[in-house]
Amino acid sequence: MTAEQSAAAEGATAADAGYPEDLRSLVDDHLQGLRFAAVPSTEGLDEAMRYSLMAGGKRIRPVLALATARAIGADPERMLPAAASIELIHTYSLIHDDLPAMDDDDLRRGMPTSHVKFGEDVAILAGDGLFAEAVRLFCSGQGGEPDRVLAALGELMSATGVGGMVGGQYVDVTEFSNPESARELGLEQLREMDSLKTGRLIAASVGVVLVLGGMPEAETIPYRRFADGLGLLFQIVDDILDVTGSSDELGKPSGSDERHGKLTYVSAFGLDRARELAAQSHRSAREALAEAETETDDLARITDFIHTRHT
Ligand code: IPE
Ligand code: IPE
Ligand code: MG
Ligand code: MG
Ligand code: MG
Repeated sequence: MTAEQSAAAEGATAADAGYPEDLRSLVDDHLQGLRFAAVPSTEGLDEAMRYSLMAGGKRIRPVLALATARAIGADPERMLPAAASIELIHTYSLIHDDLPAMDDDDLRRGMPTSHVKFGEDVAILAGDGLFAEAVRLFCSGQGGEPDRVLAALGELMSATGVGGMVGGQYVDVTEFSNPESARELGLEQLREMDSLKTGRLIAASVGVVLVLGGMPEAETIPYRRFADGLGLLFQIVDDILDVTGSSDELGKPSGSDERHGKLTYVSAFGLDRARELAAQSHRSAREALAEAETETDDLARITDFIHTRHT
């Protein structure tokens, strides 16, 4: 067994799994430089937005975007505005996901959640602000041929909207949190909900860069298959960690799904089956990646990290 495989088998840390820390630093530095308020009266909102944005987080989506850039021979730094925009949208989704009306959680990224720190009214606005600023940054900051920038932004918005993250959250809170309707649901519905609420934004982190890089549609197929598998893997592992992880390690309350009686991979199929399903998704993501005709080492390491992470 290589050192990398044994780290993966034991549950690797980001560094052990070879997570591309150089790309994570690029993302963090770029996010650190962002300011949202133009007048003193909105500085409090800027503070709330930056509080959640800079609280930590694995930065998987923007790192995935930059690793995709590297894989297709584009300069990762040139994709930073798009990558940051994706992280802003993800952070907005976390702030709203934690609200009392949603998952009612009080810990996120190891810190009190936005509504605990700033109140529900400001937390809702911080989420709204991050979403709108994400679009603004993409439009004003992302370089490239205008038609590609527009198409890439369209892909990101479609992954965020009703056919993506927001739609998936809707199905989660209406059908999967209600024991009556959840009883009728099976693996297919779980897959569909997760591919909307989590999978599409992860897939868009790859897709947006393929579009910006101008890769011919036919050549994108293995990357897109990879990205779809990765999104599914990500949420299965999230559901497993909700049961097996500690709040300290996760930086968010463990047991949140059970508290809400949520149907998840673990509650539906048990821990062992959920782990098998994660292993299957990991394998299919890696197989798809092997068919890509470029240098995909960083993408492979991110895939392994997502599978074996403890945080
Ligand atoms: C958590 O995402 C929310 C889900 C989509 C399951 P992450 O696990 O990527 O959260 P951060 O960004 O590292 O905090
Ligand atoms: C939420 O899924 C996914 C989002 C779109 C934010 P979860 O509710 O399982 O995410 P965590 O576990 O709170 O991070
Ligand atoms: Mg939720
Ligand atoms: Mg939640
Ligand atoms: Mg979860």
